[in-house]
Amino acid sequence: MLDTPLTLRCGLTLPNRMAMAPLTNTQSDPDGTLGDEELRWLVRRARGGWGLMSTCAAFVSPRGQAWVGQLGIASDAHLPGLTRLAGALREAGGVPIVQLHHGGAKADQAPIRLSAADGSGVQGATEDDIAAVIADFVAAARRAEDAGFVGVEIHGANGYLFTQFLAPADNPRTDQYGGDLAGRARFLRQTLRAVRAAVQPGFAVGVRLSPVDHWAKRGILLADSAILSGWLAADGADFVHLSLQDAGGPAPLEEGGPPVATAIRQGTPSEVAVLAAGGIWTRVQAQRALDAGADVAVVGRAAIGNPDWPRDSAQPDHAPLRNPFDPEQLRSVDVGSRFLSYIGQFPGMLVGGPTARG
Ligand SMILES: Cc1cc2nc3c(=O)[nH]c(=O)nc-3n(C[C@H](O)[C@H](O)[C@H](O)COP(=O)(O)O)c2cc1C
Repeated sequence: MLDTPLTLRCGLTLPNRMAMAPLTNTQSDPDGTLGDEELRWLVRRARGGWGLMSTCAAFVSPRGQAWVGQLGIASDAHLPGLTRLAGALREAGGVPIVQLHHGGAKADQAPIRLSAADGSGVQGATEDDIAAVIADFVAAARRAEDAGFVGVEIHGANGYLFTQFLAPADNPRTDQYGGDLAGRARFLRQTLRAVRAAVQPGFAVGVRLSPVDHWAKRGILLADSAILSGWLAADGADFVHLSLQDAGGPAPLEEGGPPVATAIRQGTPSEVAVLAAGGIWTRVQAQRALDAGADVAVVGRAAIGNPDWPRDSAQPDHAPLRNPFDPEQLRSVDVGSRFLSYIGQFPGMLVGGPTARG
Protein backbone atom coordinates (compact mmCIF):
# COMPACT_ATOMS: atom_id res chain seq x y z
CA MET A 1 0.00 0.00 0.00
CA LEU A 2 2.75 2.50 0.90
CA ASP A 3 4.48 1.68 -2.37
CA THR A 4 1.35 2.18 -4.48
CA PRO A 5 1.22 5.30 -6.64
CA LEU A 6 -1.47 7.89 -6.00
CA THR A 7 -2.89 10.29 -8.57
CA LEU A 8 -4.15 13.59 -7.16
CA ARG A 9 -7.24 15.10 -8.73
CA CYS A 10 -5.14 17.71 -10.55
CA GLY A 11 -3.59 14.77 -12.42
CA LEU A 12 -0.23 14.70 -10.63
CA THR A 13 0.87 11.14 -9.84
CA LEU A 14 2.90 10.51 -6.71
CA PRO A 15 5.07 7.40 -7.17
CA ASN A 16 4.29 6.21 -3.63
CA ARG A 17 2.49 7.27 -0.44
CA MET A 18 5.48 8.37 1.61
CA ALA A 19 6.03 12.12 1.77
CA MET A 20 8.69 14.29 3.36
CA ALA A 21 7.25 16.99 5.63
CA PRO A 22 8.09 20.67 5.39
CA LEU A 23 11.07 21.25 7.69
CA THR A 24 12.30 24.73 8.56
CA ASN A 25 16.08 24.66 8.43
CA THR A 26 17.11 28.37 8.31
CA GLN A 27 19.80 27.68 5.72
CA SER A 28 18.89 30.39 3.22
CA ASP A 29 20.12 33.97 3.04
CA PRO A 30 18.77 36.67 5.40
CA ASP A 31 16.67 38.11 2.55
CA GLY A 32 15.16 34.70 1.71
CA THR A 33 17.33 33.94 -1.32
CA LEU A 34 18.02 30.21 -1.59
CA GLY A 35 21.18 29.28 0.30
CA ASP A 36 23.58 26.55 -0.81
CA GLU A 37 23.09 24.60 2.42
CA GLU A 38 19.32 24.61 1.94
CA LEU A 39 19.78 23.36 -1.61
CA ARG A 40 22.17 20.61 -0.51
CA TRP A 41 19.90 19.48 2.33
CA LEU A 42 16.89 19.13 0.05
CA VAL A 43 18.70 17.59 -2.93
CA ARG A 44 20.11 14.90 -0.63
CA ARG A 45 16.54 14.01 0.33
CA ALA A 46 15.20 14.23 -3.23
CA ARG A 47 17.34 11.19 -4.00
CA GLY A 48 15.62 9.22 -1.25
CA GLY A 49 12.55 8.01 -3.17
CA TRP A 50 9.86 10.13 -1.49
CA GLY A 51 6.49 10.16 -3.27
CA LEU A 52 6.23 13.87 -2.51
CA MET A 53 8.55 16.30 -0.77
CA SER A 54 8.07 19.81 0.52
CA THR A 55 10.36 22.74 0.98
CA CYS A 56 10.35 24.35 4.40
CA ALA A 57 7.72 26.97 5.13
CA ALA A 58 8.66 29.71 2.64
CA PHE A 59 7.56 33.27 3.40
CA VAL A 60 5.17 34.87 0.91
CA SER A 61 5.92 38.43 2.02
CA PRO A 62 8.60 40.08 4.14
CA ARG A 63 5.92 40.87 6.72
CA GLY A 64 5.21 37.17 7.05
CA GLN A 65 8.81 36.08 7.57
CA ALA A 66 9.26 34.27 10.87
CA TRP A 67 12.92 33.18 10.92
CA VAL A 68 16.27 34.53 9.84
CA GLY A 69 17.47 32.22 7.07
CA GLN A 70 13.95 31.23 6.06
CA LEU A 71 13.50 30.52 2.35
CA GLY A 72 11.54 33.27 0.59
CA ILE A 73 9.05 33.21 -2.27
CA ALA A 74 8.03 36.81 -1.76
CA SER A 75 9.49 38.57 -4.77
CA ASP A 76 10.74 37.89 -8.26
CA ALA A 77 14.24 38.31 -6.87
CA HIS A 78 13.70 34.91 -5.22
CA LEU A 79 12.82 33.26 -8.52
CA PRO A 80 16.30 32.34 -9.81
CA GLY A 81 17.09 30.47 -6.59
CA LEU A 82 13.70 28.77 -6.57
CA THR A 83 14.15 27.73 -10.19
CA ARG A 84 17.56 26.29 -9.38
CA LEU A 85 16.02 24.45 -6.42
CA ALA A 86 13.06 22.97 -8.32
CA GLY A 87 15.31 21.91 -11.19
CA ALA A 88 17.83 20.23 -8.90
CA LEU A 89 15.15 18.44 -6.90
CA ARG A 90 13.40 17.10 -9.99
CA GLU A 91 16.67 16.04 -11.54
CA ALA A 92 17.45 14.12 -8.35
CA GLY A 93 14.11 12.29 -8.60
CA GLY A 94 12.04 14.46 -6.25
CA VAL A 95 8.39 15.48 -6.62
CA PRO A 96 8.73 18.89 -4.98
CA ILE A 97 6.18 21.35 -3.66
CA VAL A 98 6.66 24.65 -1.83
CA GLN A 99 4.98 25.30 1.49
CA LEU A 100 3.60 28.86 1.38
CA HIS A 101 3.81 30.53 4.76
CA HIS A 102 2.88 33.70 6.56
CA GLY A 103 3.71 33.92 10.24
CA GLY A 104 0.89 36.34 11.14
CA ALA A 105 1.37 37.36 14.76
CA LYS A 106 4.43 35.10 14.87
CA ALA A 107 6.19 36.99 12.09
CA ASP A 108 9.47 38.68 12.89
CA GLN A 109 8.66 42.12 11.54
CA ALA A 110 5.43 44.12 11.74
CA PRO A 111 3.43 41.09 12.85
CA ILE A 112 -0.24 41.00 11.91
CA ARG A 113 -2.47 40.30 14.86
CA LEU A 114 -6.19 39.85 14.58
CA SER A 115 -7.32 42.44 17.04
CA ALA A 116 -5.66 45.81 17.49
CA ALA A 117 -7.39 46.13 20.83
CA ASP A 118 -5.26 43.61 22.67
CA GLY A 119 -2.97 46.26 24.11
CA SER A 120 0.12 44.80 22.48
CA GLY A 121 0.62 47.70 20.14
CA VAL A 122 0.72 45.21 17.28
CA GLN A 123 -1.29 46.17 14.27
CA GLY A 124 -4.61 44.41 13.69
CA ALA A 125 -5.37 42.96 10.29
CA THR A 126 -7.72 45.17 8.30
CA GLU A 127 -9.69 43.87 5.35
CA ASP A 128 -7.12 45.59 3.12
CA ASP A 129 -4.36 43.67 4.92
CA ILE A 130 -6.27 40.46 4.30
CA ALA A 131 -6.69 41.23 0.59
CA ALA A 132 -2.98 42.06 0.35
CA VAL A 133 -1.99 38.80 2.02
CA ILE A 134 -4.20 36.84 -0.37
CA ALA A 135 -2.48 38.60 -3.27
CA ASP A 136 0.91 37.66 -1.77
CA PHE A 137 -0.11 33.98 -1.63
CA VAL A 138 -1.31 34.13 -5.23
CA ALA A 139 1.93 35.74 -6.45
CA ALA A 140 3.96 33.21 -4.48
CA ALA A 141 2.02 30.26 -5.94
CA ARG A 142 2.62 31.60 -9.44
CA ARG A 143 6.33 31.87 -8.68
CA ALA A 144 6.38 28.25 -7.48
CA GLU A 145 4.76 27.23 -10.75
CA ASP A 146 7.14 29.35 -12.83
CA ALA A 147 10.10 27.93 -10.93
CA GLY A 148 9.11 24.38 -11.87
CA PHE A 149 7.63 22.98 -8.67
CA VAL A 150 4.72 20.54 -9.06
CA GLY A 151 2.52 22.26 -6.50
CA VAL A 152 2.14 24.31 -3.36
CA GLU A 153 0.81 23.77 0.12
CA ILE A 154 -0.82 26.67 1.94
CA HIS A 155 0.42 26.55 5.53
CA GLY A 156 -2.74 26.65 7.60
CA ALA A 157 -1.25 24.81 10.59
CA ASN A 158 0.95 25.06 13.66
CA GLY A 159 -0.16 28.39 15.06
CA TYR A 160 0.74 30.64 12.12
CA LEU A 161 -1.48 33.13 10.30
CA PHE A 162 -4.40 30.94 9.27
CA THR A 163 -4.46 28.99 12.54
CA GLN A 164 -4.71 32.34 14.31
CA PHE A 165 -7.94 32.92 12.40
CA LEU A 166 -9.24 29.34 12.66
CA ALA A 167 -8.76 28.82 16.40
CA PRO A 168 -11.68 30.31 18.37
CA ALA A 169 -9.43 31.18 21.31
CA ASP A 170 -7.15 33.22 19.05
CA ASN A 171 -9.76 35.01 16.95
CA PRO A 172 -11.63 37.82 18.71
CA ARG A 173 -12.95 39.36 15.49
CA THR A 174 -16.54 40.38 15.14
CA ASP A 175 -16.45 41.00 11.38
CA GLN A 176 -16.85 38.46 8.58
CA TYR A 177 -13.44 36.90 9.44
CA GLY A 178 -14.41 35.86 12.96
CA GLY A 179 -17.27 34.23 14.81
CA ASP A 180 -18.49 30.86 13.64
CA LEU A 181 -16.46 28.28 11.73
CA ALA A 182 -17.51 29.75 8.39
CA GLY A 183 -16.24 33.15 9.46
CA ARG A 184 -12.99 31.90 10.92
CA ALA A 185 -12.33 29.77 7.82
CA ARG A 186 -13.15 32.57 5.37
CA PHE A 187 -9.59 33.94 5.01
CA LEU A 188 -8.07 30.52 4.37
CA ARG A 189 -10.82 29.58 1.92
CA GLN A 190 -10.52 32.85 0.01
CA THR A 191 -6.78 32.33 -0.21
CA LEU A 192 -7.16 28.76 -1.45
CA ARG A 193 -9.73 29.73 -4.08
CA ALA A 194 -7.57 32.62 -5.30
CA VAL A 195 -4.48 30.42 -5.52
CA ARG A 196 -6.36 27.61 -7.27
CA ALA A 197 -7.71 30.06 -9.85
CA ALA A 198 -4.27 31.56 -10.52
CA VAL A 199 -2.35 28.39 -11.39
CA GLN A 200 -2.70 25.74 -14.10
CA PRO A 201 -5.22 22.95 -13.49
CA GLY A 202 -2.43 20.37 -13.37
CA PHE A 203 -0.56 22.19 -10.59
CA ALA A 204 -1.26 20.71 -7.15
CA VAL A 205 -2.68 22.96 -4.44
CA GLY A 206 -3.04 21.63 -0.92
CA VAL A 207 -3.61 22.98 2.57
CA ARG A 208 -1.90 22.01 5.82
CA LEU A 209 -4.12 22.10 8.89
CA SER A 210 -3.75 21.54 12.60
CA PRO A 211 -7.07 19.71 12.86
CA VAL A 212 -7.08 19.26 16.64
CA ASP A 213 -5.72 20.89 19.77
CA HIS A 214 -2.58 19.35 21.17
CA TRP A 215 -1.43 20.97 24.40
CA ALA A 216 -3.34 24.20 24.75
CA LYS A 217 -7.07 24.34 24.33
CA ARG A 218 -7.48 26.76 21.43
CA GLY A 219 -10.95 25.45 20.60
CA ILE A 220 -9.97 23.54 17.46
CA LEU A 221 -12.33 20.57 17.34
CA LEU A 222 -12.03 17.51 15.13
CA ALA A 223 -15.67 17.68 14.01
CA ASP A 224 -15.15 21.28 12.83
CA SER A 225 -11.95 20.32 11.04
CA ALA A 226 -13.76 17.52 9.19
CA ILE A 227 -16.31 20.09 7.98
CA LEU A 228 -13.52 22.51 7.05
CA SER A 229 -11.73 19.80 5.10
CA GLY A 230 -14.89 19.22 3.06
CA TRP A 231 -15.08 22.96 2.34
CA LEU A 232 -11.44 23.05 1.25
CA ALA A 233 -12.20 20.18 -1.13
CA ALA A 234 -15.08 22.22 -2.57
CA ASP A 235 -12.71 25.17 -2.94
CA GLY A 236 -10.38 23.13 -5.12
CA ALA A 237 -7.80 21.58 -2.78
CA ASP A 238 -6.01 18.55 -4.17
CA PHE A 239 -5.01 17.45 -0.71
CA VAL A 240 -5.50 18.25 2.95
CA HIS A 241 -2.43 17.64 5.11
CA LEU A 242 -2.89 16.97 8.81
CA SER A 243 -0.20 18.20 11.18
CA LEU A 244 -0.44 15.83 14.16
CA GLN A 245 1.65 14.30 16.89
CA ASP A 246 0.39 10.83 16.07
CA ALA A 247 -0.60 10.44 12.42
CA GLY A 248 -2.71 7.33 13.09
CA GLY A 249 -4.12 8.31 16.46
CA PRO A 250 -7.08 10.14 17.99
CA ALA A 251 -7.30 13.79 19.05
CA PRO A 252 -5.22 14.08 22.25
CA LEU A 253 -7.72 16.32 24.05
CA GLU A 254 -10.96 14.75 22.78
CA GLU A 255 -11.42 11.55 24.73
CA GLY A 256 -12.97 8.51 23.08
CA GLY A 257 -12.95 9.96 19.58
CA PRO A 258 -11.95 8.22 16.34
CA PRO A 259 -8.50 8.55 14.81
CA VAL A 260 -8.16 12.06 13.42
CA ALA A 261 -7.41 10.75 9.92
CA THR A 262 -10.60 8.66 10.01
CA ALA A 263 -12.82 11.64 10.80
CA ILE A 264 -11.13 13.87 8.22
CA ARG A 265 -11.31 11.16 5.57
CA GLN A 266 -15.04 10.84 6.24
CA GLY A 267 -15.54 14.59 5.88
CA THR A 268 -13.54 14.85 2.65
CA PRO A 269 -14.59 13.62 -0.81
CA SER A 270 -12.55 10.63 -1.95
CA GLU A 271 -10.94 12.49 -4.87
CA VAL A 272 -9.13 14.75 -2.40
CA ALA A 273 -6.13 13.13 -0.73
CA VAL A 274 -5.61 13.20 3.03
CA LEU A 275 -1.98 13.40 4.16
CA ALA A 276 -1.08 12.77 7.79
CA ALA A 277 2.14 13.57 9.67
CA GLY A 278 3.20 12.85 13.23
CA GLY A 279 5.43 10.31 14.93
CA ILE A 280 6.21 8.17 11.89
CA TRP A 281 9.61 6.46 12.12
CA THR A 282 8.80 3.01 10.72
CA ARG A 283 6.73 1.56 7.92
CA VAL A 284 4.45 -0.05 10.51
CA GLN A 285 3.64 3.43 11.84
CA ALA A 286 3.21 4.76 8.31
CA GLN A 287 0.84 1.94 7.40
CA ARG A 288 -1.13 2.58 10.61
CA ALA A 289 -1.76 6.16 9.39
CA LEU A 290 -3.01 4.77 6.09
CA ASP A 291 -5.19 2.23 7.90
CA ALA A 292 -6.70 5.11 9.90
CA GLY A 293 -7.78 6.81 6.68
CA ALA A 294 -4.81 8.78 5.36
CA ASP A 295 -3.79 8.35 1.72
CA VAL A 296 -0.21 9.48 2.30
CA ALA A 297 2.05 9.09 5.35
CA VAL A 298 4.21 12.15 5.98
CA VAL A 299 7.57 11.92 7.72
CA GLY A 300 9.21 14.83 9.55
CA ARG A 301 12.03 14.26 12.03
CA ALA A 302 12.90 10.84 10.62
CA ALA A 303 13.74 12.53 7.32
CA ILE A 304 16.40 14.63 9.07
CA GLY A 305 18.51 11.64 10.02
CA ASN A 306 17.32 9.24 7.33
CA PRO A 307 17.25 10.94 3.92
CA ASP A 308 16.58 7.65 2.12
CA TRP A 309 13.80 6.61 4.48
CA PRO A 310 11.29 5.47 1.82
CA ARG A 311 13.81 3.00 0.42
CA ASP A 312 15.61 2.05 3.62
CA SER A 313 12.45 1.54 5.67
CA ALA A 314 11.41 -1.29 3.34
CA GLN A 315 14.18 -3.44 4.89
CA PRO A 316 12.66 -5.64 7.61
CA ASP A 317 15.51 -4.94 10.02
CA HIS A 318 15.67 -1.19 9.34
CA ALA A 319 16.49 0.79 12.47
CA PRO A 320 16.09 4.48 11.66
CA LEU A 321 18.42 6.98 13.22
CA ARG A 322 16.36 8.71 15.90
CA ASN A 323 16.74 11.84 17.94
CA PRO A 324 18.68 12.85 19.90
CA PHE A 325 20.77 12.85 16.75
CA ASP A 326 24.54 12.87 16.67
CA PRO A 327 25.51 16.14 14.92
CA GLU A 328 28.35 14.41 13.04
CA GLN A 329 25.96 11.81 11.66
CA LEU A 330 23.62 14.56 10.54
CA ARG A 331 26.46 16.41 8.83
CA SER A 332 27.18 13.26 6.86
CA VAL A 333 23.66 13.43 5.39
CA ASP A 334 23.92 17.10 4.39
CA VAL A 335 22.44 18.77 7.43
CA GLY A 336 24.38 22.04 7.54
CA SER A 337 25.65 24.08 10.48
CA ARG A 338 22.76 26.52 10.58
CA PHE A 339 20.20 23.72 10.62
CA LEU A 340 22.17 22.03 13.40
CA SER A 341 22.07 25.24 15.47
CA TYR A 342 18.37 25.63 14.77
CA ILE A 343 17.35 22.13 15.85
CA GLY A 344 19.87 22.25 18.67
CA GLN A 345 17.55 24.71 20.45
CA PHE A 346 14.79 22.13 20.76
CA PRO A 347 14.82 19.69 23.66
CA GLY A 348 15.85 16.17 22.75
CA MET A 349 16.88 16.84 19.16
CA LEU A 350 20.69 16.67 19.37
CA VAL A 351 23.12 14.71 21.50
CA GLY A 352 24.53 17.26 23.91
CA GLY A 353 21.60 19.65 23.36
CA PRO A 354 18.85 20.51 25.84
CA THR A 355 17.14 17.35 27.06
CA ALA A 356 13.53 16.45 26.38
CA ARG A 357 11.10 16.95 29.22
CA GLY A 358 9.10 14.00 30.50
C1 LIG B 1 13.06 21.11 12.73
C2 LIG B 1 11.60 21.14 12.36
C3 LIG B 1 11.14 22.07 11.44
C4 LIG B 1 9.80 22.10 11.05
N1 LIG B 1 9.38 23.00 10.12
C5 LIG B 1 8.11 22.99 9.69
C6 LIG B 1 7.68 23.85 8.63
O1 LIG B 1 8.47 24.61 8.05
N2 LIG B 1 6.38 23.78 8.27
C7 LIG B 1 5.49 22.95 8.88
O2 LIG B 1 4.31 22.93 8.51
N3 LIG B 1 5.87 22.11 9.86
C8 LIG B 1 7.16 22.09 10.25
N4 LIG B 1 7.55 21.21 11.21
C9 LIG B 1 6.63 20.14 11.64
C10 LIG B 1 6.85 18.88 10.80
O3 LIG B 1 6.51 19.13 9.44
C11 LIG B 1 6.05 17.68 11.30
O4 LIG B 1 4.68 17.95 11.20
C12 LIG B 1 6.39 17.34 12.76
O5 LIG B 1 7.78 17.28 12.93
C13 LIG B 1 5.75 16.02 13.18
O6 LIG B 1 6.20 14.97 12.38
P1 LIG B 1 7.34 13.95 12.93
O7 LIG B 1 6.83 13.37 14.20
O8 LIG B 1 7.48 12.95 11.81
O9 LIG B 1 8.57 14.75 13.13
C14 LIG B 1 8.88 21.17 11.61
C15 LIG B 1 9.35 20.24 12.54
C16 LIG B 1 10.69 20.20 12.91
C17 LIG B 1 11.16 19.14 13.88
